[in-house]
Amino acid sequence: METQLKQLYQQHLDALANQWQTALADNQQDAAILWAGHTENFLFDDQGPMFRANPHLLHWFPHTDCEHAALLVRPGQQAKLYLWQPEDYWHLPPAIPAWCAAHFAVQTFATVEALEQAVAADCAGSNRLASIGAVQDGLAFQERYAAHSSVNPSSLMHQLDYHRAYKSPFELACMRLSTAAAVAGHQAAEAAFNHKQSEFQINLAYLAASAQSALDLPYGNIVGLNDHAGVLHYQHQTHDVPQPYLSLLIDAGARAFGYASDITRTYAAQPGLFADLITSLDAAQQALIATIKPGQSYLSLHEQMHQSIGHLLSDAGIVKVSGEQAYEDKLTQAFLPHGLGHLLGLQTHDVAGQQVTADGKTQPPPEDYAALRLTRTVEVGQVFTIEPGIYFIPMLQAELAAQGKSKLLNASAIQELLPFGGIRIEDNVVVRSDGIENLTRHAFENNVGSRSA
Ligand code: GLY
Ligand code: MN
Ligand code: MN
Repeated sequence: METQLKQLYQQHLDALANQWQTALADNQQDAAILWAGHTENFLFDDQGPMFRANPHLLHWFPHTDCEHAALLVRPGQQAKLYLWQPEDYWHLPPAIPAWCAAHFAVQTFATVEALEQAVAADCAGSNRLASIGAVQDGLAFQERYAAHSSVNPSSLMHQLDYHRAYKSPFELACMRLSTAAAVAGHQAAEAAFNHKQSEFQINLAYLAASAQSALDLPYGNIVGLNDHAGVLHYQHQTHDVPQPYLSLLIDAGARAFGYASDITRTYAAQPGLFADLITSLDAAQQALIATIKPGQSYLSLHEQMHQSIGHLLSDAGIVKVSGEQAYEDKLTQAFLPHGLGHLLGLQTHDVAGQQVTADGKTQPPPEDYAALRLTRTVEVGQVFTIEPGIYFIPMLQAELAAQGKSKLLNASAIQELLPFGGIRIEDNVVVRSDGIENLTRHAFENNVGSRSA
């Protein structure tokens, strides 16, 4: 870890300590024990998925290789890290990186049982203990060792979740690193598309250039050629090279110290209506980002994007009505069925996007936009995605027809566009007091796409 990042990490930990001190006091807790968690094997199998740690623990200890670890947070004391380090020649045991070690009181354990017993002994004096992790594990610990603990107490969790939306300078630095890695991958993917490679090959090019294995990714890459671009979370990568070779949608990110980037680009193989739509949507996305201001509701951005898409569809002759009417008649909802974006951080869809107060009040999206994951007010320190799309999805076009709206649509233009699947353009932005920082565009424009984490 570079010197500057180390300094930011120290500040991040200091701020977290303050934040947790307040949250614990507000919620009548003396201390919190955070459990990293562990993987479970697949059904009737001795293999399991890759381990994913409790994000509350990663918030303090951003080292993803920490299965079974625990962290004790007690206001006024250095946080204590209990590291599970089995004697094992089948797997490489977790280790604490040097840049982290000085920040915690660290004790290592060869067995989970010994680790839990040490936690229990250290927590015996904390009468009110919040146990934060997988519910089953928290309940088992409570039953065996700590009847005085409460598992994931909801008002404390609300307070912690809510504040995770505001990223520290350390977290932003991590996200710049994960952006740089992903952008290197996207540039390689574009080149692979220009060489008419398969989804499988494009994905390999992405992984190599972003210096990641599939296990490092924050989410499974979405690599869709032609009509696969119209499957929002398309989960396969075929070896086919489709003929004709029309379009690519690639939604792929990276992680640095646990922090995700989440980036989508769409390409057309030839000039034409679809290529023009990509250009128009890109311009509309940039125009919308330029308007973002603290104090606005994210929902209003989402609605503005639908209005813009109404105009795009009208100008491109895809609908036969004005942009305003396309919006009023809800035609745009069939072309953009997902939300404009979501909070981003340790989780791709970061927590508390619909939690509008620290005490847990939620704001669901309106019925028309049920898929919208972010309904909070835009505020300084937040990082979120802006990811509009225009898709040609047979099922949703059929629904428009069933609603008697066919006469409002240009059927031949839609027929022409269905084989291209769709477009999504996704950037990750930071709301700063001096304006919006577009992490993604900055990396593409300055060609900082390289793995430096
Ligand atoms: N990659 C999933 C999303 O964009 O939300
Ligand atoms: Mn996203
Ligand atoms: Mn995405």
